[in-house]
Amino acid sequence: MTPRAPVPARIVKLDVVDSTNAEAARLVADPATPVPVWIMARRQTAGRGRHGRAWASPEGNLYATLLDRPAMAPAAAAQLSFAACLAVADLLASLAPSARVGLKWPNDALLNGRKAAGVLLESSGRAGRLDWLAIGIGVNLENVPARESVIDPRVAPCSVTGEGGRRVTPDEALAMLADRLAYWKALHAAEGFGPLRTAWLGRAAGLGTRIEARLSDRVLSGTYEDVDATGALVLRTPQGARRIAAADLHFPD
Ligand code: BTN
Repeated sequence: MTPRAPVPARIVKLDVVDSTNAEAARLVADPATPVPVWIMARRQTAGRGRHGRAWASPEGNLYATLLDRPAMAPAAAAQLSFAACLAVADLLASLAPSARVGLKWPNDALLNGRKAAGVLLESSGRAGRLDWLAIGIGVNLENVPARESVIDPRVAPCSVTGEGGRRVTPDEALAMLADRLAYWKALHAAEGFGPLRTAWLGRAAGLGTRIEARLSDRVLSGTYEDVDATGALVLRTPQGARRIAAADLHFPD
């Protein structure tokens, strides 16, 4: 089934901000803020990644957040991180057609095995209801952050242009990204997580190989077998299949 035509979101363009996700949280505190809205900034002074880590945000890369008040349960909203990753993968594939695009569970996008982009979902809600959702996306279009400043120094960072891709402005990149995210969100709304999971697995980096999953309190080793119907990673260990909802993956050389 072809998803419905997406509702275009308006775009708020900022020169500099602490974090587009933080700005989204401030904007949504005003019930009159119309959504959906993209917030993009040329530069962030306190860009953030998963687990409260910093996201280096020099000028020239894309920093953008889609803010919405989706009428969906938190578990379904969490699946939109897969929609965002697929949209980023489409963007990267279009900009760097000769590079290998991969998705590293849960929310990294790779070019030739190096990290080119990350996705950070933040939300608020109560009693199983979502009030708002912010989908923050950072794409290294032309600047590669210093390795010490990246979220996981074991994963080498890269940029689109550094991997042989086309140079575009953040505005151009956002137009392409917004279009692809609208597509994947509409598909999710029409058909659920199934087609997104299939598309995501088609781009999954490290699937079928031995990996380490670093949880908050331990490290599990095993074979990366699948991503299940809830979005959890399935790791085959000597003790059996483990379903992992949150972890950092490490691919041993
Ligand atoms: C990660 O890899 O851990 C996710 C990084 C997400 C970075 C983006 S940049 C735009 C938005 N604003 C932020 O402060 N973070 C996200």
